[in-house]
Amino acid sequence: MDFTAKSNTTFIKQKIDDLEKMTDQDNPYTRIVFSDKFYEARSWLKNEYHKLGLLVSTDDAGNLIGLLKSKIDTHKVVIIGSHIDTVPSGGRYDGIAGVVAALCVVKHIKENNINLPFNLAVYDYLGEELNDWSISCIGTRGMIGALNEEILSRSNSSGNILKDEINKIGGNSKSLTKPFSIIKNIVACLELHIEQGKVLEQKKIDIGVVRSIPSISRFSVVVNGQAGHSGTILMDQRADALVASSEIITFVNNLALRLSKESNQHFVSTIGKINVHPNAAAIIPGKVEMTIDLRASSKSSREQYIKELEKQIDTMNQNGPCKIRMKNIAFAPYVEMDKKLVKLFKESSDHYGFSNIIMDSGAGHDTAHLSRVAPASMIFVPCKDGLSHCPEEYAEICDISKGTSVLFKMLENLAKLNQN
Ligand code: GLV
Ligand code: MN
Ligand code: MN
Repeated sequence: MDFTAKSNTTFIKQKIDDLEKMTDQDNPYTRIVFSDKFYEARSWLKNEYHKLGLLVSTDDAGNLIGLLKSKIDTHKVVIIGSHIDTVPSGGRYDGIAGVVAALCVVKHIKENNINLPFNLAVYDYLGEELNDWSISCIGTRGMIGALNEEILSRSNSSGNILKDEINKIGGNSKSLTKPFSIIKNIVACLELHIEQGKVLEQKKIDIGVVRSIPSISRFSVVVNGQAGHSGTILMDQRADALVASSEIITFVNNLALRLSKESNQHFVSTIGKINVHPNAAAIIPGKVEMTIDLRASSKSSREQYIKELEKQIDTMNQNGPCKIRMKNIAFAPYVEMDKKLVKLFKESSDHYGFSNIIMDSGAGHDTAHLSRVAPASMIFVPCKDGLSHCPEEYAEICDISKGTSVLFKMLENLAKLNQN
């Protein structure tokens, strides 16, 4: 049976339509990890796993797993999946396309009674998106033992502690500081994702086979000034925390622009989160908290950026009226995907005659964490105007369907390589 047949596009569309309804109604599309809407989507996914006859479980990191056991007795496992949480006012495809594609592949395997020489596990990785605890990829960081007590004990703005939330959803926060035992049995971790950039669309390419994922660093910056009356404190007597912050924002933007040109590799930096206190029109801002997000493929450019930014903050602390503190709150290293899997993904795409390129990811992904401990690789499908992390995010169902076929062919190819 042709895997790109109409029944698959109907299935994919139906599941994406189902999930898009599980959003904060006032703020589409918002399904923040651990929110009521997230729990609702998890119940929906559990039901989808059950409908496909999968064994359902939640691992210690809170990942929701649907397992298709091989008919032969083996511990080997291939993981396919992505995430169903979103950023605030995010999109309908980021992560979701990968989970739905995985469900579609399992449906095809079941309907055609295909035997695989390994177990196949569909994963909804817990909390891939950056959250209020300032950490992304909770589920995969947990799997590889990269969550420490400092991170697990963080509180969010409502006072909820991260480890309590992980435990509430079915995880076990006590066992997240060392790699899970499943890792030694992993044959491959495979993820389909929308590109979230414009390369595939502009070049009219069906499939991007990912070669690398950049490092991600996040820093919190706290600027302490002095709040005061906006009508009485004269301009040369102020310690305005927002004015100092604006200097940092401009500095970061110019620095990243310069280093991205110099390094000729993926290099971007953003300040997208800022809290101003007390945030009132008649009060000079007394305190500002910001988060800096930095993505870099080049280690030396990253180090150069940090050096120059720290120097700028030192200079401002010495000469300006505000006191500024910067702290590294999260890091994920630059990683390369498994070369054999990259080649196999390309061959799987060639099999259908889909145009493809080998490319570097700009965004971060769960697969980046898994690739540190197991063979891992991912493919991208095009999305409209490269838009993502916004409600306008859009991908054609037929493009997701092509990627889904490639994912299936990849499993067939891995099966051939893993026959005993
Ligand atoms: C994931 O969405 C990221 O921020 O790259
Ligand atoms: Mn994603
Ligand atoms: Mn995302």
